[in-house]
Amino acid sequence: LKQALFRNPNEPPVVFHWFPLIGSTVTYGMDPPRFFEENRKKYGDVFTFILLGKKTTVYLGTQGNDFILNGKIKDVNAEEIYTVLTTPVFGSDVVYDCPNAKLMEQKKFMKVALTTEAFRSYVPIISDEVSNYIKRTPDFKGKSGVVNICPKMAQITIFTASHALQGKEIRDKFDETLADLYHDLDMGFSPINFSLHWAPLPWNNRRDHAQRTVAKIYMDTIQSRRARGGEDNAQDMMHHLMNSTYKNGVKVPDHEIAHMMIALLMAGQHSSSSTSSWIMLRLASRPDIMEELYQEQIQNLGADLPPLTYESLAKLPLNQAIIKETLRLHAPIHSIMRAVKSPMPVPGTKYVIPTNHVLLAAPGVSGTDAQYFPNPALWDPHRWETDSPNAPSILRNEEEEEEKIDYGYGLVSKGAGSPYLPFGAGRHRCIGEQFANVQLQTIVAMIVRHFKFRNVDGSNNVIGTDYNSLFSRPLEPANIHWERRETA
Ligand code: HEM
Repeated sequence: LKQALFRNPNEPPVVFHWFPLIGSTVTYGMDPPRFFEENRKKYGDVFTFILLGKKTTVYLGTQGNDFILNGKIKDVNAEEIYTVLTTPVFGSDVVYDCPNAKLMEQKKFMKVALTTEAFRSYVPIISDEVSNYIKRTPDFKGKSGVVNICPKMAQITIFTASHALQGKEIRDKFDETLADLYHDLDMGFSPINFSLHWAPLPWNNRRDHAQRTVAKIYMDTIQSRRARGGEDNAQDMMHHLMNSTYKNGVKVPDHEIAHMMIALLMAGQHSSSSTSSWIMLRLASRPDIMEELYQEQIQNLGADLPPLTYESLAKLPLNQAIIKETLRLHAPIHSIMRAVKSPMPVPGTKYVIPTNHVLLAAPGVSGTDAQYFPNPALWDPHRWETDSPNAPSILRNEEEEEEKIDYGYGLVSKGAGSPYLPFGAGRHRCIGEQFANVQLQTIVAMIVRHFKFRNVDGSNNVIGTDYNSLFSRPLEPANIHWERRETA
């Protein structure tokens, strides 16, 4: 009653809760998408809930995505939210430990390095990593077996990303020290660290030690490359950053290159490895689609299945659609948050979001909205074909010009109005989208060449989602049954 009576009519309705500090932390944390859907039904697209004592205002739907993700820099701020978590992991002077204008320049350096030429060189690197991984992994010995797919996909993701983006020297160190060090860094990314990031707890001490050690490994590599003339790694990110200069004429310092290397690998690791695990689980639930993928390669690339190239990926539309459709249902980033820096009126309503609120965008909600995606809960990669009965409205309206904008790191799609934004929108939009696509498409195509998957019980069921970490991922053990293809 108190919550209803003392409500400020110019602020959005507050989700009912019993305890002021805990608020809705538990119900939100257990299943954010369900929490959003249920409260959308009760309160509409804009509502506030208490997350660890903080008033958090959710604005759902395409207008909400636009309001938050394309918010002006004087109104919304990402670094204030994320820096406590990311700075101890990435290191100083990069990403959220610097003014936004500097992040925009850093994103530009990283984006410019991700050229078609670079991607062309990555496809063979990634396919070889996948084949070698399958060959040497004991769990894939023999003709068939059962495997918890998540840890396998996490390893494949880090081996492929580190080799492509950071070169062979760094990749080889993952077989020695780097895997454990990155694991320790990862502990810094647990949600509890939003409040305990500073505490002298064992996992924070390990995180800090790992950060210093990994940064030193990168800085030593940079120096030895420089000493050798550095000409042998022309397509990797490290090479590119070593040759980048800020607008003020300052060359990117070595410690910033090292910290960007960590940021890049960490940013991609969780999202890509979760996505690849979901893909494998979805394929296990639909062996018929896995077979279609195999036939697509035979028909479009040739029965002898030649080595994959960047160009050949473009000839595999179903392989591409698998990634699009899996990200629609399993976007690894379910909540995107911003601090409010000046009171923000919500157009068309009487609400003004005050500066003591945090704003939360959840683009995944519009990605599963029946208004845009017929049969939204159905995983149907064929829906991305224009003549499919489940084709999303955005495909039908494709001739409409996509609005583009430059925040300082090149033209990006503004995303305003699109219900499909797994890579975000606005100044913080993902720069890794094309890399993730090349990486995931190559991994899927290679796995399909080697295996047939099915659920252990032969059903079409799909496992639930684990929301306990910052990035959502499949609940474990996520066991699938694999059978080696005769031809593999
Ligand atoms: C930002 C998703 C892979 C690097 C973002 C954002 C999303 C996202 C939603 C926006 C975050 C925000 O607005 O707060 C994904 C998904 C991926 C993926 C779904 C894979 C399936 C990658 C990869 C890299 C990467 C592989 C690096 C190679 C970045 C960077 C940002 C970003 C640098 C910018 C952060 C900022 O400006 O605040 N990503 N990402 N991502 N991502 Fe990705």
